[in-house]
Amino acid sequence: MAERTSGIVGIGAYIPERVLTNFDLEKMVDTSDEWIRTRTGIRERRIAPDNIATSDMSVEAARQALEMAGVKPEELDLIICATVTPDQPLPSTASFIQARLGAVNAAGFDMAAACAGFLYALTTAHQFICTGYARRILIIGVEILSRIVNWEDRSTCVLFGDGAGAAVVAPVDRGGYISGRMYLDGSLAELICQPAGGTRLPLNENLLKEHLHKIKMRGNEVFRIAVRYMGRAVRDVLDDAGISPKDVDWVVPHQANERITRSLTDYLGFPPEKVYSNIERYGNTSAASIPIALREMVDRGLLKRDQLVVMTALGAGISYAANLVRWSI
Ligand code: UT7
Repeated sequence: MAERTSGIVGIGAYIPERVLTNFDLEKMVDTSDEWIRTRTGIRERRIAPDNIATSDMSVEAARQALEMAGVKPEELDLIICATVTPDQPLPSTASFIQARLGAVNAAGFDMAAACAGFLYALTTAHQFICTGYARRILIIGVEILSRIVNWEDRSTCVLFGDGAGAAVVAPVDRGGYISGRMYLDGSLAELICQPAGGTRLPLNENLLKEHLHKIKMRGNEVFRIAVRYMGRAVRDVLDDAGISPKDVDWVVPHQANERITRSLTDYLGFPPEKVYSNIERYGNTSAASIPIALREMVDRGLLKRDQLVVMTALGAGISYAANLVRWSI
């Protein structure tokens, strides 16, 4: 009998309808469609309506994932919600998701690993499945970054978008989780941050005026480490599994910048046709970007059972991760 492993048995995504194009942004800040496209690969992104919170988008994505998995909400043992844009600071967004879904038997918590959140959640869920603590886990990568972006800062506001992705993780006897690594370089924590709004700098009127509760990013410095760190992560998970890059069917990287993706995959020796990209349409949706890509790939008939998929992501922390899975749907 095969050793117990976990696998993704259902995947879902929710993307808000409202589109914000580069041309719309030209009217808001000193930027151009040409600059954004050539520097990032982004043409447009989605923005959540004001009356929608993170848990609302999560529930939509989760329902799709549960349906694909054939799992009822009450059969879930655990909900892990990876987000840096929770509904509110207290309680966890997982609480609202649990109540809305009716996942009455599930425990739940939030995970703050930014863009690496979905992969952190995947590796965490795998541990719970392998120990036998849980049998059905809902993992969610979700962000409403439009709420924490400074819409006057052209160096960040053009990059981000809103979205949600969800997966049901369960024991599988064919395919599934092969290897995974999570990393953190806290010495670089200040490269991407929201300086105010926590215990270090509780919000006050002056901090609000200075937009210190919004995302600050030293993009150029992040760019430089992104290729190196994610390159290491992918190499590690392939080495752990004894798999060569040529055996991989798909590379699904975090969608932060098309130039980062290209440098990373060139450096690792993956041909462009094996690398999935949808950044053009959604921008950087942080923890949501990988599950949104996976659902799209399934819907488009690109991602098929038994294919080998390597995923990698890097974001605030600096947290980064990679996973190798054999697709099990
Ligand atoms: O998901 C979390 C992880 N985050 C990332 O992976 C993001 C990594 N970083 C990046 O993707 C890129 O660094 C950016 C897209 C953020 C910036 O691209 P860059 O090629 O690194 O540009 P830069 O920051 O070096 O800026 C180049 C120039 C600057 O002007 P000067 O100083 O050369 O005159 C900026 O002021 O581009 C200017 N600039 C802009 N111009 C037009 C910055 N933002 C804009 C803009 N429109 N939106």
